[in-house]
Amino acid sequence: MHGPPFLFSTIEVVMLDATQNPQSEIAEPRFIEQRWHDYTNEDHAVWALLYERRMKDLAERGSEVYLRGAERIGLCPDCVPDLAVVNEKLRALTGWRAVPVSGFLPAPEFFRCLARRTFPTTVTVRPRAQLDYLPEPDIFHDVFGHVPLHASPAFADYLQRFGQIACRAEREEQIRGMARLFWFTVEFGLVREGDAVKVYGSGLISSHGDAARALGPECERRPFSVDAVLAQDFAIDRMQDVLFVIDTFGLLFHAAQEAAQKLGIPDAV
Ligand SMILES: [Fe+2]
Repeated sequence: MHGPPFLFSTIEVVMLDATQNPQSEIAEPRFIEQRWHDYTNEDHAVWALLYERRMKDLAERGSEVYLRGAERIGLCPDCVPDLAVVNEKLRALTGWRAVPVSGFLPAPEFFRCLARRTFPTTVTVRPRAQLDYLPEPDIFHDVFGHVPLHASPAFADYLQRFGQIACRAEREEQIRGMARLFWFTVEFGLVREGDAVKVYGSGLISSHGDAARALGPECERRPFSVDAVLAQDFAIDRMQDVLFVIDTFGLLFHAAQEAAQKLGIPDAV
């Protein structure tokens, strides 16, 4: 089944926001509490349905690193994750934390969060009527899709380094370049594991249609290189025609530094 395209993610919106108005600030409060006990039976049931469907597929298509991470952070098959519990596990593994937010953060604040090993995550559960299509992120995309990789030390270091560098991106081409790097790794990344190509980007992890397309004949899978990624445009409103395959998560940290250098972003550390 090909679902509708994965449309929005936190990063693409903050990146668009940064491109259009680098100084933009939103006045309303953004950091919130999760209030786990307020989730309804229907919320838990929707989570369970999504979890079951995606995990069945990811057993074949998902990166080992992702699957191991999901296990290590104790993602629950039948209830919405309690971030306090997830964070307790993550703290021991990599020191990352998922912090609840009410919606999109302005780009500079989002990057500063990453630089502090803090991942802003929405906490709402999508309605059952929008299981396959949601125009904005929810806890399934943010926590099921993103957070398990934060248990991987190599990915954890990369994401922090990305935030440190992206904080310092000022010119439009610098922001665009960092958006492409994020898009083709964190959101839509592929990794070679043994003889197979697997999905690890959150947009692919959390969406059946996007994952199927990414590994099918309609998508061109190219070897990852910083030059190739920085030169590759992407569209947020349709499925991907071109994606990039890394050989190991360890190379991403260096890729962030190489991107900074190529884009002329001052080194952050
Ligand atoms: Fe995302």
